[in-house]
Amino acid sequence: MESGIDWQGLRDAALRMTRLAYAPYSHYPVGAAGLVDDGRIVSGCNVENAGYGVTLCAECGLISELVAGGGGRLVAFCCVDGQGGIIMPCGRCRQLLWEHGGPELAVATPAGVQSMARVLPQAFDADSLGLSRD
Ligand code: THU
Repeated sequence: MESGIDWQGLRDAALRMTRLAYAPYSHYPVGAAGLVDDGRIVSGCNVENAGYGVTLCAECGLISELVAGGGGRLVAFCCVDGQGGIIMPCGRCRQLLWEHGGPELAVATPAGVQSMARVLPQAFDADSLGLSRD
C-alpha cells in the first residue's frame, strides 16, 4: 500500500502549509498534503472564520486544489499540526477524502499508515446511492 510513496516529502509539504494557515481563533494551524495518481502534490491549510462553524479545514483546500487542478484520485494523504505531528482528519474530512481517494487511499495516522477503509469504516458513498460517480 505504501511502497514508493515519499511520505517525508508529503509531511514536509503539509508542514509548510501550516505556516499559511489562518487560525486566529483556535491557534491550531493544520496543513494537509496529498499525492495524486498522476504524481501531483495537492495541499491545503485551515481557514477559520468569526462564524466558527464556517471554518474550512485544511482538507477542504486540498480537495479544491485537486478538483480545480484537473481532478484525479488521491493515493496518499497526510495532515499535520503546527509542530509537524501527524493528526487524524476530522469526521467530515474523512468523508471528503473517501470521495476522492476511496478505500485504498493510504492515510498517515499517528499509528502508522492505514487504508481509508480502516479510517472510515462502512463509508456512505456513491454506491450507497446506487449511483456511479461518473
Ligand atoms: N482542522 C482541520 O483543518 N482539519 C482537520 O481534519 C481537523 C481540524 C482545523 C479546523 C480548525 O481550524 C482547527 O483545526 C481546530 O479545530
